[in-house]
Amino acid sequence: MATSTSPDSSMPAELAAPYGDGPAASAAGLPAAAAASTAAAPGSAPGLDTGTRKPVAKIRTHHLHQAKLNGERFAMLTAYDQYTAEIFDQAGIEVLLVGDSASNNVFGNETSLPVTVDELLPLCRAVTRSAKRALVVADLPFGSYEVSAQQAVATGVRFLKEGLAHAVKIEGGKFYAETVRAMVQAGIPVMAHIGFTPQSEHALGGYRVQGRGDDAQRLVDDAVALADAGAFCVLMEMVPASTAAAVDAAVEVPTIGIGAGNATTGQVLVWQDMAGLRGGRMAKFVKQYADLRTSLSDAAKAYGEDVRSGQFPGPEHSF
Ligand code: KIV
Repeated sequence: MATSTSPDSSMPAELAAPYGDGPAASAAGLPAAAAASTAAAPGSAPGLDTGTRKPVAKIRTHHLHQAKLNGERFAMLTAYDQYTAEIFDQAGIEVLLVGDSASNNVFGNETSLPVTVDELLPLCRAVTRSAKRALVVADLPFGSYEVSAQQAVATGVRFLKEGLAHAVKIEGGKFYAETVRAMVQAGIPVMAHIGFTPQSEHALGGYRVQGRGDDAQRLVDDAVALADAGAFCVLMEMVPASTAAAVDAAVEVPTIGIGAGNATTGQVLVWQDMAGLRGGRMAKFVKQYADLRTSLSDAAKAYGEDVRSGQFPGPEHSF
């Protein structure tokens, strides 16, 4: 088993911030945690608090670890803006990912490679400001951490300081263990992303399942090295369910899957895939829970027709 900074299952309840907790909470006369718990109604989201079994006011990395120990699961979705962050947070989604998939889901690029730190930071800020309970993880985009551990620490600091993220995610296997160690030592919680890593699409020869057959051990080794280096979680993309199960069994830290079967502690999907906003062919691992593309298209068509026919605005929309 890989070691990690283990959450203490007897960890006491979180205290109010000792040195001030921001204008929103002060305005309401509440400590931040109490203000958050009144803002969000997590509904049927799993209760992750060890002692009380109540939904916690703010999801921290140790709650995800505790979920694995308790045999509970958690959900992660991408979010890139204010309203999706608010909606998913209030729906009880435990982790929001400001993914570099913003590149091909927000900025109109073909792949995740072109998106920059300066493009992602404002999206990250919007998500973090809008989510009261979820843990917000930001992707370090391609080219912003590979050069050296120092570069990774510097970029990670920008995401926590300017993007207000709670943690960052980097792609890559055990080669990045020392990078993860340096980031964690600098106080940056790191989620590791192994298996198919979209930033390496060209190096990997396209979208291909990783860790099949004999290659499974490589992913186990990657996960163990990254968890030993201090990663608080290991995300696996497009790996066989059996490989993901072996990885999950080999590390103490929680695992998250996307196209990685059902043995991981958490699951993640890109929200536009999950909610049916994106058109075109979907990956096998996507389940669509809504058809927002049709709803939005129908709404736009109805609005256009009303405008052209003079039906909108009516007297009720006029001053
Ligand atoms: O950027 C992203 O959306 C991701 C997920 C695919 C895990 O990294």
